[in-house]
Amino acid sequence: MSTTFDPEELQGLDLPVPTIRPRRLRANATMRRMTAEHRVSVDDLIEPLFVVPGTNVRQEIGSMPGVHQLSVDRAVEEAKDAQALGIPAVILFGIPPEKDETASWLARADGPVQRAIEAIKSAVPNLLVIADLCACEYTSHGHCGLLDVDGGIDNDRSVELLARGALSYAQSGVDIVAPSDMMDGRVRAIRYALDADGRTDVAIMSYAVKYASAFYGPFREAAGSTPAFGDRRTHQMDPPNAREAVKEALLDVREGADFIMVKPALAYLDVLAKVRKAVPVPVAVYNVSGEYSMVKAASARGWLDEERAVDEMLVSFKRAGADCIVTYFARATARRLAKARR
Ligand code: PBG
Repeated sequence: MSTTFDPEELQGLDLPVPTIRPRRLRANATMRRMTAEHRVSVDDLIEPLFVVPGTNVRQEIGSMPGVHQLSVDRAVEEAKDAQALGIPAVILFGIPPEKDETASWLARADGPVQRAIEAIKSAVPNLLVIADLCACEYTSHGHCGLLDVDGGIDNDRSVELLARGALSYAQSGVDIVAPSDMMDGRVRAIRYALDADGRTDVAIMSYAVKYASAFYGPFREAAGSTPAFGDRRTHQMDPPNAREAVKEALLDVREGADFIMVKPALAYLDVLAKVRKAVPVPVAVYNVSGEYSMVKAASARGWLDEERAVDEMLVSFKRAGADCIVTYFARATARRLAKARR
């Protein structure tokens, strides 16, 4: 039997002749620009900053080339730079001078995050300041809440601690608090605590959908928050579950979340799309440390083209429905977008 292709045979197929040729819309860069269904804008980007005690500290994080731990004074500089590039918001993480069992530094007015909020809001008032809210950077055991007698996490006492932390950030002038601990009922408690103190303008960006992920590895080096024992699987979500993500998101919207966050990003684009359909609030996605570091590591070896990989990754978040993108590539991307416009 001959396997030679005979073009005549095409005529016999019951298929339309290609009068519709999708390639026409891909023919050149201008056509592609005009027909792009999604694009990343600087308005979508949120830049993470890691704040440490001291002054004039700018210490690169080994596993995250180009990302630094910053003292408050240097964090202000980076915030100014972000604002100059048109980035609307930064999200702050704090590494306290001391960690203990009860996360004492979490709700202190002189904590690194509280001081950074004040300093950034006074230097760049129009830049939105978001504060990540979790106990894991503040506890000696590295867990996201307070421990009970059996070494498990005491959900309800942890929620009280988070509400106190949220209040303390609000009193320092934060625009948005972002609880990332995954305790049950914390959005409701935080909303209640903020409102009781007259802080009705402070918004809540809830990490409603946060998976127990290997992709947080480099962050835990940055924040010194690797659990001393055990893991986070009893509170962070199990990777096989997507229906449960919708449940978490809807619950947090009911409790008063103004934004819903999905995290990580790349391995959870299906979840992002589902959550986007289910909730009537803006959805943020967190392009996490491991996703940053793997692109950085591969491109440092010449195995990936960094800029193209980043652009492709970020636009996939828009395609899946993200309204805002937290990414360590925020400033690099903002710079590139500004150049492309010129
Ligand atoms: C918890 C928190 C984590 C991240 C953001 N908030 C770490 C964790 O849950 O272990 C991860 C961010 C990243 O990996 O970039 N405070």
